[in-house]
Amino acid sequence: MINFLEKNSNIINSVNQKLKLVFPDKAPLVYVETYGCQQNEADSEKLLGMACSVGYTPTDDKQLADLILVNTCAVREHAELKALSNTGQLKHIKEKNPRLLIGVCGCMVQQEHRTGDIKHRYPYVDFVFGTNKIFDFLSILLKALSSDKRLFCVESFEDNPGEFQENVPVVRAHSNKAWVSIMYGCNNFCSYCVVPYVRGRERSRCPNAILSEIRELLNSGYRDITLLGQNVNSYGKDLEPQLSFVELLKMIEEIPVDFVLRFMTSNPKDATHELFDFISQSRKLEHHFHLPLQSGSDRILALMNRKYNREAFFELCDYARRVIPDITFTTDIIVGFPGETEEDFCDTLSALERIRFDSVFSFIYSKRVGTRAAEMDEQIDEETKKDRMGRLLALQQSISASRNSELNGKVFEVMIEGDSKNDPNVWAGRCHDGKLIHFSKANTPKFSPGDVATVRVTDAQAYTIYGEYIKD
Ligand code: 5AD
Ligand code: SF4
Repeated sequence: MINFLEKNSNIINSVNQKLKLVFPDKAPLVYVETYGCQQNEADSEKLLGMACSVGYTPTDDKQLADLILVNTCAVREHAELKALSNTGQLKHIKEKNPRLLIGVCGCMVQQEHRTGDIKHRYPYVDFVFGTNKIFDFLSILLKALSSDKRLFCVESFEDNPGEFQENVPVVRAHSNKAWVSIMYGCNNFCSYCVVPYVRGRERSRCPNAILSEIRELLNSGYRDITLLGQNVNSYGKDLEPQLSFVELLKMIEEIPVDFVLRFMTSNPKDATHELFDFISQSRKLEHHFHLPLQSGSDRILALMNRKYNREAFFELCDYARRVIPDITFTTDIIVGFPGETEEDFCDTLSALERIRFDSVFSFIYSKRVGTRAAEMDEQIDEETKKDRMGRLLALQQSISASRNSELNGKVFEVMIEGDSKNDPNVWAGRCHDGKLIHFSKANTPKFSPGDVATVRVTDAQAYTIYGEYIKD
């Protein structure tokens, strides 16, 4: 196990000295912009932590920043275009602040053609580093602070599989809920997906490091922990000795503190009855499961290389509902995968009707360079994709509305997350099944994130659930 602070102590000193020379007049400010999934959010918290360990102070206003890091996503073209266009706007900030350093990192720049885009079209970007270089960030930063030369630190995972480091400084975005990465990378090569190319093969973190991070979080008052991995069910297969995901969960369950434990993401091909049995007995795991179906057509699932069929998926959900009657399910669906016929799409709609997910994250298929699906004939035209997306959303809206309406009048204990995103006069709290309930702050105590409140659901709609506070 490599200890970040031991390995980087000289570099931390050197960057710190360098910053004092470059910024004799002020404490330099850092801003991190994050695209993509929770794994990226967790990486950004580490990048911010590393920057603060050498003397930067976080700012929420990028106009004031002396270091801007753009942590990118590559999963769909839309995410890439957004990151590129926002990187384009940084030019004006750089013109006003010549000491500003701009770094672009994460999944998008792990792809050669995107690093090329940055090199040629965004000359004011000072340094670029890939996902396997995240723990080298401070040495890259030192070089960038010491020279005017632009740095492109991107290596393929074949050349550099990337190494874990422990005890990395972290500045967390929330005070009650925390991400804990348990593994990096993915071995599945679903034919549409760029992740195995931009995040490399599966590497599991050692259980002791995970447990000590969780204990430390609990000691600091965190009560909502989400374990992260691209495919958590294959956790530990690469460890010596091997350890299964359920065994890891059992070790975490034994920690004698009350808290909520979540995890994502599970690939249905590896989700087991044993896992659902364990959830049914656990006092910590939430009764919610995110299980990406992607398509309801067996023909498309085979083309996607998903290694399960719809019957196996149904069986898994049925079993879970038998052993955990109040479990909620969410899923991911891709519409317009190459070759998807009207009949295939109707199989997806019928799967949604069969499972009745609580909510669905649906995506229009996006061609990713280097993946097998990008080479497939019969790419679907944009109009058909949009039409199918509209039909899918309409169906799921009625299913979500009908499922949520079952909650009307019921009473739940919710853990306060904070203010509702849209209204500072409303609290948002999460139930044991993962659903968010909104309720007015009128007549409530002044809650903090992590507090528990009793709430009665009064108006459960498809996308938002409203309730009222019940005094104890
Ligand atoms: N196009 C559209 N959606 C995709 N996803 C992954 N790759 C693609 C792609 N090429 C979706 C999948 C995955 C979610 C995180 O993003 O549904 O589960
Ligand atoms: Fe995006 Fe996937 Fe990278 Fe997450 S792992 S940031 S979803 S490409």
